[in-house]
Amino acid sequence: MLSSRHLLGLDGMPAAEITLLLDTARSFREILDRPIKRVPTLQGKTVVNLFYEPSTRTRISFELAEKRMSADIVNFSASTSSVKKGETLIDTVKNIEAMKIDMVVVRHSSPGAAHLLSRVLDANIINAGDGGHEHPTQALLDMFTIRQKLGELEGKTICLVGDIAHSRVALSNIFGLKALGARVLVCGPSTLIPREIEKLGVEVYHNIDEVIPQTDVLNILRIQLERQESGLFPSLREYHNYFGITRERLERADKEVVIMHPGPMNRGLEISSDVADSGHSVILEQVTNGIAIRMAVLFLLAGGKSEIQ
Ligand code: CP
Repeated sequence: MLSSRHLLGLDGMPAAEITLLLDTARSFREILDRPIKRVPTLQGKTVVNLFYEPSTRTRISFELAEKRMSADIVNFSASTSSVKKGETLIDTVKNIEAMKIDMVVVRHSSPGAAHLLSRVLDANIINAGDGGHEHPTQALLDMFTIRQKLGELEGKTICLVGDIAHSRVALSNIFGLKALGARVLVCGPSTLIPREIEKLGVEVYHNIDEVIPQTDVLNILRIQLERQESGLFPSLREYHNYFGITRERLERADKEVVIMHPGPMNRGLEISSDVADSGHSVILEQVTNGIAIRMAVLFLLAGGKSEIQ
């Protein structure tokens, strides 16, 4: 059982609950390989996917997870709603809840948006990314994929590369991986690494060539091009030269490393195409596993205890 009715983040989540989510997802992952990928687990439940920010993977993944579990689904997009007429987030969700819904999946640009909804709604709230704060289901699917590839996380070394400062993926990964006993490194230019991040138990590096020989996994984060104007690094070419993950760089290190990226990728910037498409890359496996993780989250938050059929 999970101790909360909501999944707002991985900060403070006990290792046993993270493990329960990952173990439950393993059962759902098997369902995705069946010819008929549908179970009645959420029959009668209504889930609203409330997206105030663009998304490809997370949105489709939640929608497929809900469909695979026979839930009724409503997809809400801020850009085609009365938000355009000035309706607030709280008024919007209270009106949606008045239509008798059970669960809300929310993505919003404001850190804390999911927490806010959990205080004003009776529905279960699932954070699908809140600003630069947390993206718990992405971190869970990352951990699931590492476990699938390398076994238990305890003692494994995982390096998050790039824009740690603005990344909700990084923060949720740090909380989850540390809870499960992994060694976590972060590597990037000092302008993209938050001060005092060591307090979260991670090791900080600024030289990627020093990191590769000692890591099992490189989880390469998207460089948020929209932030380039604020001069956080001198040029895209320089970023690529110093931190871009290329085949030459990996060959020089002579170390087998699992390559991950949450997407969307900037090919030729933080990752070269030959690395993204190589046999060491599990980027598309991450996407497949995302559905299983989201099924597990929905199942456990809905109070799931019965056998997964
Ligand atoms: N990884 C991720 O959150 O991708 P989307 O923004 O496409 O959902």
